[in-house]
Amino acid sequence: MEKIVILTGAGISAESGLSTFRDEGGLWAQHRIEDVATPEGFARDPALVQGFYNARRVKAAKAQPNAAHEALARLQRDWSGEVVIVTQNVDSLHEDGGADSVIHMHGALSGALCAACGHRWTSPPEMAVGERCPACAAPSARPDVVWFGEMPYHMNTIYDHLSEASIFAAIGTSGQVYPAAAFVHEASLSGARTVELNLDPSTGASSFDQVILGPATETVPRWVDGLLAQR
Ligand code: APR
Repeated sequence: MEKIVILTGAGISAESGLSTFRDEGGLWAQHRIEDVATPEGFARDPALVQGFYNARRVKAAKAQPNAAHEALARLQRDWSGEVVIVTQNVDSLHEDGGADSVIHMHGALSGALCAACGHRWTSPPEMAVGERCPACAAPSARPDVVWFGEMPYHMNTIYDHLSEASIFAAIGTSGQVYPAAAFVHEASLSGARTVELNLDPSTGASSFDQVILGPATETVPRWVDGLLAQR
């Protein structure tokens, strides 16, 4: 049974209306990473950081999954082997599109985390500065997302999946942030066939066996159809 491991990035949600990070006018053109996506930035100005994630959480809640998210859910349903989706995204569009057991290596906007005791709960739509933890009551609630300088989540599980992959696909990611940018090398070492589906060639495009260029809502359904036709 061929196992497929898929890594997705902000590009797969772009056609659902959510900003990417490094494209023209992307999130990192509007905000400084050190101000809104680091523990130091949160300590320095929690209102700015909570405001940044509240705005993204409200926007993400209104977004709809697109044909690419839905095609990956179809692949999970119809492929004979296991299909594992690892996402760098913090939106829930894979789940909304019907995918299951999605691995969120950078956390999720829907999650809240207590910086004091580590308790996790479902985040309110807008998290206030000094929001209290329901477990320890400390005013230490933060978005349960992985900031720069912090360890991504579920890395051991992800590396186990990569070691068993027959096919590895990277979809909608610029390949500029590690450790995700190195997954293609891990998969290749395990003998996987590797493919990149992206609007433009990513930084790591030359590491892939195949590069399919175009918008995800066009390339991903066609790629899934091709795989399922092989069964
Ligand atoms: N279809 C396919 N690919 C697209 C589309 C689209 N419609 N629109 C944009 N892309 C591609 C871009 O060409 C780019 O290569 O998606 C990629 C988005 O790259 P980034 O904005 O860098 O997003 P991502 O790779 O997910 O960033 C990784 O960096 O800032 C951190 O934590 C953040 O998870 C994020 C990580």
